[in-house]
Amino acid sequence: MSRTRTQVVIIGSGPSGLLLGRLLTKAGIDNVILDRVSAAYILGRVRAGVLEEGTVHKLEEAGVAERMHREGLPHSGFDLTFDGRRHRIDLEHLTAGKKVMIYGQTEVTQDLMDQRTRDGASTIYEAEDAQPHAFDGSQPYVTYRKDGVTHRVDCDFIIGCDGYHGPSRKAVPEAALKTFEKVYPFGWLGILAEVPPVSHELIYANHPRGFALCSMRTETRSRYYVQCSLDDKAENWTDDMFWDEIRRRLPDEVAQAMTTGPSFEKSIAPLRSFVVEPMRFGKLFLVGDAAHIVPPTGAKGLNLAVSDVHYVMEGLAGHYLDKSDVALNGYSERALSRVWKAVRFSWWMTTMMHRFDDNGTFGQRIQEAELDYLVHSEAASKSLAENYVGLPY
Ligand code: FAD
Ligand code: DHB
Repeated sequence: MSRTRTQVVIIGSGPSGLLLGRLLTKAGIDNVILDRVSAAYILGRVRAGVLEEGTVHKLEEAGVAERMHREGLPHSGFDLTFDGRRHRIDLEHLTAGKKVMIYGQTEVTQDLMDQRTRDGASTIYEAEDAQPHAFDGSQPYVTYRKDGVTHRVDCDFIIGCDGYHGPSRKAVPEAALKTFEKVYPFGWLGILAEVPPVSHELIYANHPRGFALCSMRTETRSRYYVQCSLDDKAENWTDDMFWDEIRRRLPDEVAQAMTTGPSFEKSIAPLRSFVVEPMRFGKLFLVGDAAHIVPPTGAKGLNLAVSDVHYVMEGLAGHYLDKSDVALNGYSERALSRVWKAVRFSWWMTTMMHRFDDNGTFGQRIQEAELDYLVHSEAASKSLAENYVGLPY
């Protein structure tokens, strides 16, 4: 067995692990990142697309925002459609100047990986069986296998940035955890296509046939979603079926303006809300999807991972640079306070925008009444906008 030492081991090289790694390296704190899969595999996953202003600022602070500002699309509003009508939510006006940035998670991850290479910091890809150990004592360590050899990395802290299925949360004794979960009875079928987006801003659609979302990655690349059944398979949907279905769920003027074309990615994501409490166990800290999942409707998953990174980084900087553990000790409480507000917002958007078979036509009318209220009440629109652009850290 090989044995090495670092200050912080990060399990998971998704956006949260890479961003934390970058902020630690920038602060002069040694860290190693481990991931089960290859960098190419991580970059092949199509996920989030909307960055809150707080996320944009964190990427600026990390020094990885240059391409995002060049290629990303700042959006100052989005549309809601329901009952054949279309209404704009003017985020910038409703939040006194805030916007969101359309820039894919793949691009954020690529920028962070490139920076890590420039930093000469260590990432071990295709590390098998990564396991946190002894995190309830003062000498935690992580083991993993690579090319048939077992490695042990001793450290001060282990940060679990390893997503919902990763080993960090699973290493905590069940009795020490409280979990909260809601599984929704539908999924999202998403496609990417090299066609210009139907509108220059996003469109979230409520329709009796189900939810639809018109999003984008660039001015020539569209990302579209439709609510689908949980037992559906992406391969059961031809491109023509997808285009017909999404157009049915949009007002006529939008459907008629839509440019269609072959998709080059098509996949189904289930929707769930999940939170684990607390987010810290001794020397092990959970960050991002390892600790919580939100349904994608409010575009919060990636943004929450970034706010967790902000809080844990404050804690680690306090420990190493200021010799104070106040922020580290407050991590779980501070992160969870923001997490629960985003969980609530994502649940609310999901409930208002999707078809729930059990709620019938009564449920549909209630949703339309809520949406009508939302777009005509300045107070309600402001609340939606304030949450969508992201609550303060
Ligand atoms: P992840 O990105 O999941 O990264 C975790 C990393 O840990 C991965 O690289 C994984 O390989 C690694 N890992 C796992 N197990 C191990 C192990 N045993 N050893 C070492 N490493 C391990 N959010 C939105 O806002 N909008 C969306 O449209 C959207 N779509 C999504 C679609 C899907 C299918 C999924 C799964 C998520 C989606 N999300 C979306 C959520 C968003 O992508 C996540 O919230 C975000 O990726 C969280 O980042 P993370 O770094 O915490 O976790
Ligand atoms: C995208 C995903 C979302 O969940 C969302 O609310 C908005 C946009 C996207 O993938 O572009």
